[in-house]
Order: sequence, then C-alpha cells, then structure tokens
Amino acid sequence: MKYKIATLPGDGIGPEIVDQAVKVLKAVGKKFGHEFDFTFAVTGAAAIEEVGEPYPEATHKICLESDAVLFGAIGDPKYDNDPSAKVRPEQGLLKMRKQLGLYANIRPVTTFPSLLHKSPLRKDIVEGADFVVVRELTGGIYFGGKGRSEDLKSAFDNCEYSTEEIERILKLAYDYAGKRNKRLTVVDKANVLATSRLWREVAQRMEKDYSDIETDYMFVDNAAMQLIQWPKKFDVMVTENMFGDILSDEASVITGSLGLLPSASVGKETSVFEPIHGSYPQAAGKDIANPVATVLSAAMLLESLDLLEEAKSVRDVVNRSLDQGIVTEDISGDHKAYKTSEVGDWLAANL
Ligand code: IPM
Ligand code: MN
Repeated sequence: MKYKIATLPGDGIGPEIVDQAVKVLKAVGKKFGHEFDFTFAVTGAAAIEEVGEPYPEATHKICLESDAVLFGAIGDPKYDNDPSAKVRPEQGLLKMRKQLGLYANIRPVTTFPSLLHKSPLRKDIVEGADFVVVRELTGGIYFGGKGRSEDLKSAFDNCEYSTEEIERILKLAYDYAGKRNKRLTVVDKANVLATSRLWREVAQRMEKDYSDIETDYMFVDNAAMQLIQWPKKFDVMVTENMFGDILSDEASVITGSLGLLPSASVGKETSVFEPIHGSYPQAAGKDIANPVATVLSAAMLLESLDLLEEAKSVRDVVNRSLDQGIVTEDISGDHKAYKTSEVGDWLAANL
C-alpha cells in the first residue's frame, strides 16, 4: 500500500528527530512492502520566518491531503521573551488543532525499566505504571470567547462545552479503555464548574452503554494528587482541554521517560503524531536529542493506519536499542552516548 505522510519537522530539535522517524518508517516500508510518501512542510517559528505565519495555508493543505501527519516540535525562545510579539509559534499549533479538528490528544504513559531511576518518584510507586491520558483538544477555555474590558483592568476567558463535544471524546476514551484494562477515570471539577457538571451528566449517561468498563469520577485536584501518589491505579483518564494540559505534563514526567513518550492527536480530517517533549532549542543542530519519542510516535501513526504488525516491530526495535544501550546522552549514564542520527540508523538497520 501507499501512504501519504505530511511531515512537519517544526523548530529546534524537530528536524533532527523527525529525520530519524522518517528513516525508521522507510525501513518499515522496505520490510513490509509499503510505500510511504513524505511531503515536508513548515510550521512554528520556522514558518513565521519563511512566510510570516506559524501554520500556513500551504501546510494545512498538505496535512489535509495526507493519511497521517508526523510532527516534530514547535517553539523558539526568541518569542517567549518577547511579550509584544504578535505572531507566535504556539498559535500555529492551536490553529492546526482547530483546522484539522484534532479533538483528542492521547498520551500513553509507560515505564522503561532502565529509566526508573530518573523518575522523581520512588521506584516502587512508578514501576509498572501504564496508563493513557486522553485530553479534549479543541474546546473549553482554550477556544472560548476571550478578551479585556475597555479600561483593560479586567479580562476573561470563557470555558464552553457542548454535549456533542463531550460525547465524542468520551466515546474515544471508552474505546481505548475497552482495548486496555477496562477502567475509565473521568476527571472534572463538577463541584464548582457548570461545564464539568455537563461532562459528568453526559458520562453518567454513557456509562450505561459501556457496562464492561468500570467508570469512576475524580475531581481534578484530587487526580493531580493521586497521579503522583498511586499512578498504577489509572488505566485511561479522560478530561477537558485545560485540565488535560496540566495533568498530561504531570503524568509524562513521573516515569522518568520524558524523552521516550509519544502522543497522538486524533482528528476528523487526519491525525497528528508527535513526541510529547518540546523543541529543546539548546540542543538544536547538535545531533544529541533523543529521537525515541518521535520514533514511537511513528509507531502510533502506523497503528492509526491499521499497520499493527509494523507498529509492533518499531516498538520492538526501540526496546532492543534501550536494552543494548544504543541511546543518546540524556539516558546513557556512564556508558557510551550515541548521536541522534546514529540511534536512528541503528533502529532502521535493526528493524
Ligand atoms: C501542549 C502545549 C500547548 C497547549 C501550548 C504550546 C499552546 O503546552 O501541547 O500541551 O497548551 O496545549
Ligand atoms: Mn501543555
């Protein structure tokens, strides 16, 4: 089969890590007899520099025409330190989410035995933790009406959710839970927020249709606490945009594997696959960044195309590279550190 992959390296280390995932996908194509057709396009600061816009129409068109999007990272410190900047790389990300209808962000959190010592938590707390955070990505406070009063002395950001938006994300989360350990935790703030009460109302109604799945409800503050106290209790956690932004960052660091964790943003038009870490500008161009999170994102991309055996072979080769210490300096410890490109070459050669 032939697949069209829109390839958006973005900023910082983005181009280097995406290159390695492309190498691995090409090796998958060779081994399993598929053709992956990569069309590169700009986003983020790179796109602002080139065309003055962080998510250009041309890039959007390439994404729309693709079977899946492989994404690196966006962000440049140049913009972080300039509060007056009118155009920012992050706006490109929000625009892409909205225009591609990327309504669900999925972050699987797993542990890697060789990295447990990097966790900020005790080994016995994190060892074996394995859960998925499902974050609603195109609604809520991020996209509600926002503004300032005329005298500029007050500001507002509205949080709105429709029943349809909630049903759509809950359905996806239930389907995930169904394929895993059949437990779903709905995270909200229903003791305070009207949108959360609607979430809970919808979930309580849908719960009846998924009787094989155990649903529980948790307030977001409690969930933030339980995530670090007892991460192993979670299977699939689903929540609204802003809570999910915060909880998914918290979740991603507890296993000590930040550089290895992939993510998927599932959309109506197409889906985007990217590492959960950022653009790590300090390492850009040095060939030292860990490409594994992006390579595992490519594995999620393969799954989205129903190429399950292919995805498994990518996960397997990544596990072998970790076991054999073919890793970049962030996790090599006292052993030899390999370059980004060397890790990519090894993965592609040993698939
Ligand atoms: C993320 C990021 C974005 C978000 C920013 C960069 C707009 O933090 O992908 O989680 O808040 O959604
Ligand atoms: Mn975030």
